Amino acid sequence: MIIGKDIVTTYNGITIHEGANFHIKSGEIYGLLGGSGSGKTTLLKTMIFLKEPTSGSVKINGVDIWRALPKEQQDMKLQIGVMFQFGALFSNMNVLDNIGIMLREYSEFDPNDIDEIAKMWLIKVGLKPNSMTLYPSELSGGMKKRVALARALALSPRVLFLDEPNSGLDPISARAMDRLICDIRDSLGITVVMVTHDIDSIFNILDRFLIVDNKKIVFEGDLKQALEFKDNPLKDLFAMR
Ligand SMILES: Nc1ncnc2c1ncn2[C@@H]1O[C@H](COP(=O)(O)OP(=O)(O)OP(=O)(O)O)[C@@H](O)[C@H]1O
Ligand SMILES: [Mg+2]
Repeated sequence: MIIGKDIVTTYNGITIHEGANFHIKSGEIYGLLGGSGSGKTTLLKTMIFLKEPTSGSVKINGVDIWRALPKEQQDMKLQIGVMFQFGALFSNMNVLDNIGIMLREYSEFDPNDIDEIAKMWLIKVGLKPNSMTLYPSELSGGMKKRVALARALALSPRVLFLDEPNSGLDPISARAMDRLICDIRDSLGITVVMVTHDIDSIFNILDRFLIVDNKKIVFEGDLKQALEFKDNPLKDLFAMR
């Protein structure tokens, strides 16, 4: 479903990836792994129209996203949902308005319908209906992440991109978030691409993953393959932290 081919990325002439290749299958939960500063977020950004590769290509469903026509790009942007690493909610809007923001911007539903759709996503991510009128400052860390997830899902994307969905969560909330991500994939049949540092998520929910190290993709495959790979690349990764 998503194919990265020979992707080179640079910031101010400094190379971050020197020829990244990967292959994400439809319906899987795919992980982007690597040490801090290795370029996981940058790689994610090449798939969501935020960082154009210096060379190479990213194809989603056969379309080379950086070479598509502007209209085609606009359509594709509406088919992806994104939850950022430091994805702040709008502090002056309540939960329901935060979830509905993309719908207000990009859909033609009237405000009542938008509220109904936002409520549906609120329930889907496991929040109670009475939390819809709360403001971000009144939410726990886990609840904020769920609101951000509901916002990313609001336009019913085909691919969901998550940057460190568990960061800052206590272990119990992190496991609950893992179960939610799995449930969303299973019930909506979408593809999930996520950056993670969380060893439990790697073991529990990723179908396949890649590991970035020293500007290169040093591994792509599933957990079993990683554990059997020469010098298990996960061992390096977790020694590195
Ligand atoms: N907008 C930017 N301008 C210049 N350099 C950047 C920019 N964004 C990232 N970088 C650099 O690119 C490298 C990779 O950053 P990136 O954020 O992709 O890493 P990461 O693997 O997501 O790290 P972390 O685990 O800390 O989130 C880092 O050296 C970083 O300083
Ligand atoms: Mg990052």
